[in-house]
Amino acid sequence: MNPDKRIAPSILSADFGQLAQQVRMVEEAGADMIHVDVMDGHFVPNITIGPVVIQWIRSHSRLPFDVHLMIENADDYIPAFVKAGANMISVHFEACRHLNRTLNLIHSLNCKAGVVLNPASPVELLEDAFPDIDYVLLMSVNPGFGGQKFLSHVFRKVEKLRFMRAQLSMSFAIEIDGGITIQNLRDAVVAGADWIVAGSSIFGNENPPDAVRRMKEILKEFTIV
Ligand code: DX5
Ligand code: ZN
Repeated sequence: MNPDKRIAPSILSADFGQLAQQVRMVEEAGADMIHVDVMDGHFVPNITIGPVVIQWIRSHSRLPFDVHLMIENADDYIPAFVKAGANMISVHFEACRHLNRTLNLIHSLNCKAGVVLNPASPVELLEDAFPDIDYVLLMSVNPGFGGQKFLSHVFRKVEKLRFMRAQLSMSFAIEIDGGITIQNLRDAVVAGADWIVAGSSIFGNENPPDAVRRMKEILKEFTIV
């Protein structure tokens, strides 16, 4: 069975001066989860937020927090992110030396575990880890910044991953992140994406709730009743 379809606004493009209000705004518009981008200045050339920010916004939302770790030594920080309120944690294949150990750690803390692949990393890298993975996040920009241009070759990776999932009778969700807009969202879902991360196309829109609602409308076309 394929997972449900979800919209996950990335708060990286939100107004950090009023983060709690921004999170409430997209939740009220129908967002399914909140995507939180954590960057360490080592794995990616940018620094964003840590557990303390998640802890502060946790009380303002009932939605699952989908925490995308773009950091090295993730094992050292995962417990703190869970304690702060993460419900799902994804780690980069390219940043994890002992992926199985890291996924076990996330699961031991009653969190969903995802693995992220950079645009140049092939989906076949994950085949042996599939049984331990709740969701695969395919980056469709090079991680580090919001507002970048979508890399269209990633559609082929989404298709290939969906095919592998069916062949192996697995049920992990496929998430896509980077450069998603109202214009290319439908193509991403047709290719096989279940969960859609969108940052600048939501928070950079002059009417963010309307952007969420329009994206949700598109997802509805793919809902099996
Ligand atoms: C990039 C982040 C993305 C980013 C997406 O490293 O992982 O989640 O916020 O932003 P947009 O949707 O603007 O590409
Ligand atoms: Zn992200």
